[in-house]
Amino acid sequence: MQKPDVSYGVRIIGCGSYAPEQVMTNDELSQRVDTSDEWIASRTGIRARRIADPTKQSLTDLATLAAAQAIESANLTPQDIDLIILATSTTDDLFGTAARVQRSLKADRAVAFDLSAACSGFVFGLVTASQFIRSGAYQNVLLIGADIMSRWVDWSDRGTCILFGDGAGAVVLQASPQQDNFLGFELRTNGQDNSLLNLSYNSDRSSFDYITMNGKEVYRFAVKMVPEAIEKSLHRSNLTTADIDWLILHQANQRILDAVGDRLGIDRAKVISNIANYGNTSAASIPLALDESVRSGKIQANDLIVAVGFGAGLSWGAAAFRWG
Ligand code: UT7
Repeated sequence: MQKPDVSYGVRIIGCGSYAPEQVMTNDELSQRVDTSDEWIASRTGIRARRIADPTKQSLTDLATLAAAQAIESANLTPQDIDLIILATSTTDDLFGTAARVQRSLKADRAVAFDLSAACSGFVFGLVTASQFIRSGAYQNVLLIGADIMSRWVDWSDRGTCILFGDGAGAVVLQASPQQDNFLGFELRTNGQDNSLLNLSYNSDRSSFDYITMNGKEVYRFAVKMVPEAIEKSLHRSNLTTADIDWLILHQANQRILDAVGDRLGIDRAKVISNIANYGNTSAASIPLALDESVRSGKIQANDLIVAVGFGAGLSWGAAAFRWG
């Protein structure tokens, strides 16, 4: 590939999402484990989650449906896509699922790869995609965040199984010689605390374990580290939290959303939340919330959005951009 002599701006020009039809309510969950709608709703804000059909719906299916919608809303065709990045931790194939999505979309020109950064995956993907665009390497990049957490949850562990759900969301980023709407980012990893949240390979069983999590510590980490990352992502463009139109935090717990917003003095009406309906969908949670807010007319062209992912790694990251 020839080295371009200009640096391109980045615009996010389309979005889409898909969540499986099957709804699992808190009441249904409380028939499986010792919990209640009251406990789950008051401690997390979650009322229901979507569950992919274990025999009929693959990660490829969810990702493809969200991606097709994003490509259509960007007024492009799959043939226009140069690069597909699939942020996921619940792959159909340990060798990668992105190539299967490329095949399903018939995006024949695109190179495709997976990116694994758990609940931070979508934000890490936004930054990765934007670097490929800035350098002039690719013009149209499809970024998908998709996870089927229900595959890896221990359905007898009430400390984790109440939190997660399945879904997919996608955006299309495009190179723009005139305008740069990708304003800044902050990405961080703390491997010292890796043991707080895992989905590890177990050599004794020759397979992966279920999700294990120290909920209290992960909660503390999020509330402490996320506000600082938000401020740093804005700093490069001389913006402050007062300029934010919409804060889209990874939908992990309503109490985390409220605490982060309050700590930064951001009006709760600007902190987007759909956790009640979907729970924590890992890499899908930010693009799902983004897509719903764009389709409902909440998010308008040129609005300043900060998206923040956080979770296993530990990893966390914030990206500031203007919509459209
Ligand atoms: O995307 C990855 C990021 N993950 C997160 O952000 C998760 C962050 N953590 C959390 O959201 C919260 O820590 C949880 C929702 C997981 C747990 O809430 P908590 O307020 O930290 O509860 P806890 O773990 O301190 O448990 C309080 C009590 C305990 O009982 P005792 O020991 O006080 O008698 C638990 O056994 O609540 C009990 N408990 C439950 N009770 C009913 C724990 N889970 C449940 C449950 N239903 N599902």
